[in-house]
Amino acid sequence: EQNFIIAIDGYSSCGKSTIAKSLASKLNFLFVDSGALYRAVTLFFIENELETADEAKVNEALDSIMLAQLADGLETRTFLNERDVSSVIRQMHVSSRVSKISALREVRHFIVNKLQEIGRSQSIIMDGRDIGTVVFPHAHLKIFMNARPDVRAKRRYAELMAKGENISLSEIMDNLLLRDQHDTTREESPLVQAHDAYYVDTSDLTEDEVLGLIAARYREIV
Ligand code: C5P
Repeated sequence: EQNFIIAIDGYSSCGKSTIAKSLASKLNFLFVDSGALYRAVTLFFIENELETADEAKVNEALDSIMLAQLADGLETRTFLNERDVSSVIRQMHVSSRVSKISALREVRHFIVNKLQEIGRSQSIIMDGRDIGTVVFPHAHLKIFMNARPDVRAKRRYAELMAKGENISLSEIMDNLLLRDQHDTTREESPLVQAHDAYYVDTSDLTEDEVLGLIAARYREIV
């Protein structure tokens, strides 16, 4: 029996992880948040004040990084060298640097390997930017999600407010648009819809409606 792989890619803050988590619990699959791993590596670079231009230094740094993601009820927790960094990686100082760090070829190879390893042993739902195109090009089901920028910014704003972060809507909008720009134009595995992905615009849909669409698609193929 082969592991079943569902890849959910798309733009920042359009609801990928919410949908992925919910679907994972319904199907009893493992949810893997690939963005969290890029964020954890970014945190390591920030804390160690690493220069990104020096390839040898970057490789050396990656050799000293151990990443793990563990399911915790409906949530997942992300560990950087055994330290739980799940909250800090959502803060703006990480968000504002992650697209630059994740564009580095060495960083992508490091994380792609890690993600592929996770998918070898179990059925998973993984969300990210290049899951259906690069990490699992043979995923059984591929979803590509998007939403209008104003909708995405408001959702992220509500999320961060609930966590008590002090940040303005316009800062969030700027960060979203900048990350979209970086993520779609980088040389190494840019954000692009896989030709065989199912496109969902979540702007005017509730979470249940999005889930319904994807669940229907899933039932068609199993
Ligand atoms: O998913 P999330 O918004 O947390 O991802 C943070 C950043 O990590 C993205 O803006 C992107 O730069 C990078 N990323 C990536 N490839 C992935 C997942 C995330 O480059 N598969």
